[in-house]
Amino acid sequence: MKKIIITIDGYSSCGKSTLAKQLAKKLDYVYIDSGAMYRAITLYFLQNRVDWTSQPAVVAALSDIHLEFEYNPLSGASEMHLNEENVEHLIREMLVAEKVSEVAAVKEVREFAVAQQKKMGARKGIVMDGRDIGTVVFPHAELKIFMTADISIRVERRFKELYEKNKNITIDEVKQNLELRDYIDANREISPLRKAEDAIILDNSQLSREDQMDLVMQWVEDATLAH
Ligand code: DC
Repeated sequence: MKKIIITIDGYSSCGKSTLAKQLAKKLDYVYIDSGAMYRAITLYFLQNRVDWTSQPAVVAALSDIHLEFEYNPLSGASEMHLNEENVEHLIREMLVAEKVSEVAAVKEVREFAVAQQKKMGARKGIVMDGRDIGTVVFPHAELKIFMTADISIRVERRFKELYEKNKNITIDEVKQNLELRDYIDANREISPLRKAEDAIILDNSQLSREDQMDLVMQWVEDATLAH
């Protein structure tokens, strides 16, 4: 079957990466987590005390950042490497989550990440999730999905994930972080989160994973046949 580009955009913790991973596995496509790139850049800025409100500081820091996804056969997923170090776990910490939307709103940071993301799509057969993938990175993607879910469901999912690692985390903290990130992501000046005109909305508040996958596989089939 012909290979296509599939973009999945949407709010934080809607289940984008879960769907993207499952889909890539099923189709034998490459999955790219674009948020991991913004998270790795944020981690670097925090570790090196880079002032991301200063353009020269950001430009200098970006020239020292090398990002790479490496497949880990043990986890069956691609993991983020920052300057040769595996940072897959570090970038998921709350400290990074608290700052990543601010960093991702910086023009030079977006240009840096988007240029690399576009290159990764030179070959078809990829699923990429993020906030601007269907609008900016791959405006001509064959299948664009825009995911949403009720805020209470998103908070619950994210809380469960974070609580596994940190028993001190509270529901309120998680809710505040999600709402703030959504607000910044959707209201920033450069490529804000928004639904591409030709994206299909997927509200998974009430869908089981199986039903969701059946629905999306139908869309993949339709998109593949149409192109
Ligand atoms: O998908 P995520 O939660 O790991 O993304 C982390 C942050 O990165 C998110 O708050 C917004 C930003 N992001 C972005 O601006 N553009 C993307 N394509 C992906 C993520």
